[in-house]
Amino acid sequence: MNLENRVIIVTGAASGVGRESVKLLLEAGARVMACDIDETGLRSLEEECRDTSAHLRTKVVDVSKAEAVKELIDSTLETFGTLNGMFNNAGIRDGTHFDSLDPDLYHEHLDTNQHSVFYGMHYAARAMQRLGVEGTIVNTASIRSYFGAQKSFRYSAAKAAVVSMTKSGADALAKDNIRVVGVAPAFIDTGLLESVPEERRERLKGRHLRGKLLEAEEVARVVRFLFSDESVAINGATILADDGYLAVR
Ligand SMILES: NC(=O)c1ccc[n+]([C@@H]2O[C@H](COP(=O)([O-])OP(=O)(O)OC[C@H]3O[C@@H](n4cnc5c(N)ncnc54)[C@H](O)[C@@H]3O)[C@@H](O)[C@H]2O)c1
Repeated sequence: MNLENRVIIVTGAASGVGRESVKLLLEAGARVMACDIDETGLRSLEEECRDTSAHLRTKVVDVSKAEAVKELIDSTLETFGTLNGMFNNAGIRDGTHFDSLDPDLYHEHLDTNQHSVFYGMHYAARAMQRLGVEGTIVNTASIRSYFGAQKSFRYSAAKAAVVSMTKSGADALAKDNIRVVGVAPAFIDTGLLESVPEERRERLKGRHLRGKLLEAEEVARVVRFLFSDESVAINGATILADDGYLAVR
């Protein structure tokens, strides 16, 4: 897949799906601005990508803050001169029961898992419109966009909104030749699931048709496809990358 010279921002790039996506996008020839709040993780990503590092820049960014996302877009334009892709991927786990939530806890979670996606879409689209370039925005949703759970009240709400924003964004931005698409993974073996007890991990594995968790690179391959011209027929849709999880649930 050829992404030669395309400039793509990846959020949540220090770990998991974001990190694997950075590596695949670089391999496909893209120039990548990788951002995360985890500075140590970004340093180790630079180290791991040293062969392709001429095309990689990293930046410590907290995507839950609108101003920080705006600065991220500005500094990407200063560094690379253009912007063709935005991967709104950074996210955090939930696990708090509805009974323990209060408005502050609710909003704090949505700042990272939902509002950050709007900030990324908003500022990236503005930049692409100004530059008059075609672009692709990819958002990370989840199978939890499609069902709820007592300890996933905030996460499911945020991820359902991501699916919705992907649809409305596609409609709003088609006039500017900007595609907006999403990926909805099932359970992936990443840092996000680190604190999940072993017994629950085993149960989760059994709900995937291959009997195992997804690997971050498997989801990253879907992301690379969505950024490529191979997927031009897809717009406004969120693609399930769930190894059959929802098909048999
Ligand atoms: N792991 C799963 O089972 C799973 C399933 C479905 C969807 N997802 C989604 O996939 C995306 C990637 O998650 P992952 O599994 O690779 O997890 P991960 O924990 O390995 O990576 C997430 C990254 O996001 C970063 N991050 C968190 N908050 C941030 C912020 N405010 N600003 C900038 N960076 C921030 C973290 O530091 C981390 O590097 C998330 O949106 C997650 O909700 C994960």
